[in-house]
Amino acid sequence: MVEPTSSRYAEVYARWKADPQAFWAQAASDIEWVAQPRTVFDPDLGVYGRWFVGGVCNTCYNAVDRHVAAGRGGQVALIHDSPVTGSKSSLTYSELLAEVRTLGAILRDMGVEKGDRVVIYMPMVLEAVIGMLACARIGAVHSVVFGGFAAKELAARIDDAAPKVILAASCGIEPNRIVPYKPLLDAAIEMAEAKPTACLILQRPQLHGTLMAGRDFDWSERRAVAAGEGRGVDCAPMGATDPLYVLYTSGTTGKPKGVVRDTGGHMVALRWTMENLYGLKTGDVFWTASDVGWVVGHSYIVYGPLLMGCTSVVYEGKPVGTPDPGAFWRMIEKYKVAALFTAPTALRAIKKEDPEGTYLKGHDLSSLRTLFLAGERADPDTVKWAEATLNVPVVDHWWQTETGWAIAGNPVGLGLLPVKLGSPTVPMPGYDLQIVDEAAKPLPAGTMGSIVIKLPLPPGCLPTLWHQDERFAESYLAEFPGYYKTSDAGFVDEDGYVFVMGRTDDIINVAGHRLSTGGMEEVLASHPDVAECAVIGVKDSLKGEVPCGFVVLKAGERRAPDVIEKELVELVRERIGPVAAFKLALTVPRLPKTRSGKILRGTMKKIADSDPWTAPATIDDPGALEDITIILKRRGFGS
Ligand code: COA
Ligand code: AMP
Repeated sequence: MVEPTSSRYAEVYARWKADPQAFWAQAASDIEWVAQPRTVFDPDLGVYGRWFVGGVCNTCYNAVDRHVAAGRGGQVALIHDSPVTGSKSSLTYSELLAEVRTLGAILRDMGVEKGDRVVIYMPMVLEAVIGMLACARIGAVHSVVFGGFAAKELAARIDDAAPKVILAASCGIEPNRIVPYKPLLDAAIEMAEAKPTACLILQRPQLHGTLMAGRDFDWSERRAVAAGEGRGVDCAPMGATDPLYVLYTSGTTGKPKGVVRDTGGHMVALRWTMENLYGLKTGDVFWTASDVGWVVGHSYIVYGPLLMGCTSVVYEGKPVGTPDPGAFWRMIEKYKVAALFTAPTALRAIKKEDPEGTYLKGHDLSSLRTLFLAGERADPDTVKWAEATLNVPVVDHWWQTETGWAIAGNPVGLGLLPVKLGSPTVPMPGYDLQIVDEAAKPLPAGTMGSIVIKLPLPPGCLPTLWHQDERFAESYLAEFPGYYKTSDAGFVDEDGYVFVMGRTDDIINVAGHRLSTGGMEEVLASHPDVAECAVIGVKDSLKGEVPCGFVVLKAGERRAPDVIEKELVELVRERIGPVAAFKLALTVPRLPKTRSGKILRGTMKKIADSDPWTAPATIDDPGALEDITIILKRRGFGS
């Protein structure tokens, strides 16, 4: 176990382990309940049990109303800072309450009832957060879709969630272009079988969208009317096990998984992390530089900070280029940010443009206490650079869309443990981690294996996939009975420190964005000239990994391979979206396979990453690996 330190971690983790129900019951006392839960955990409900059964509560109440009722209505709840539009604004808790009350009433007018779904397809504007909270207020289940996804991906999510209403903006703004969201939304609705009855569109001045009569409504107009009439709704009483949101994430096929988050457990877990993991208190400024379309944005731009009564920063910009690599330092100084949470790739981007930290000069960063990193493995070089540049503890923590909060981290609020570079430190209370082999046999310290979590998962983690209990059980619980499979591989060292080394499935992590190579293969395979294909993630010094597709063209194909390669790059962008960052399609004469026909993706990756490799004994045609080596070398990969 971890060496004794001044940290209370060991004691708190042991307290959880000795009596998980008592631990979470105590954590639940930080939430205001309409009716207390009957049972802290009922193992007989749901797929593996349910938390806080019988409890009645409302997330919007705890995130907004409660602070106003406690006399903190004048405190700033949300700050919007948008270098891409040159605008800044903020809302106090009282103002935020007025906005969510109004939008809640508008949604009700549009026919949205408790349990109905609302898809939110919006950039980083305050209305996206207001939309999420308004749904929570009336008991509608929101499903936010990241703006970098293409129409087809949006359509797949619309079909699965079957929303009654969609909240969208007319456009998003990337540093190099305006992204028209409205045509993407229209195309997605056209493609989807489940049609929403109405869309509420936020017309941004940079680019208005065309509204379809009878279906689309102007957000500002509806808001002005409802606010003028003084309309508003109160919080709906929700069961603790009722869904708060569905967030889609990449699965091992092109079909995304609808991760369900419940109401009560989610609040309890996030509130606990704010104090104990992030070391924040009411009134602190928390800035998570991510996007509301990702789980990190859900948990730590919106719900966590607001449940704690913090001020949360919503940043519509990039770490570099908006306008320079000093953007993050300007923000920290301007808003007196106490904790910054971002992905290592953002720091690599800053470090690449400003390795000496020149842009830091002249900025007063004395408010910053901690830098948190997640979304991908925090490579030791980046952590060291950040520590030296910012002179604050840099805390890596590991989690997934499915868990909604950190599985492993270094708990600032309980007292920091010594940092081991390359490790997100130790399991959080709630998580009993084990490293197992393929036969589910526990492995000794220091040995790589599959990382699994003993059931039940703690509050806040997914109870199931949206309307797909069986897929949930099959994808996560079947392979290692009694455990949740994280699909991450790694080891735990002698001191109990966790090391997360990579995925065991086809998921890759591109600039902190989770993507399925299987999904990209489906797109490449749909091109009429492609006979077969394989997509792997190759090392990238900025984004961690980038996808690289290998295609074998159909026999007799006469068109130039480079023309087809360009078409393939375009096709992935069009079907999945720019976020896939798919820029490399390489034509090869054949794919390396085992004699049983399995494509040797792992070996191909090692060649591309210049890692040591040997041809497996079962290889069908060793010449295929030589081809790949030569082709990759021509493009600057491999040694
Ligand atoms: N809407 C539309 N397009 C988007 C988008 C959005 N919300 N977000 C990204 N894109 C586009 C980008 O414009 C880019 O398009 P391009 O191919 O035309 O250049 C493409 O998707 C890839 O985006 P990204 O991977 O983010 O690369 P980038 O080069 O624009 O920026 C970083 C690189 C490192 C600066 C950026 O990824 C970053 O800030 N990452 C922070 C990590 C993060 O937020 N992680 C979330 C989980 S914590
Ligand atoms: P997402 O669901 O998008 O949050 O992605 C989750 C995946 O990102 C995890 O399963 C890991 O593979 C990876 N990941 C996230 N955070 C970390 C981290 N701190 N260290 C290593 N891998 C991480």
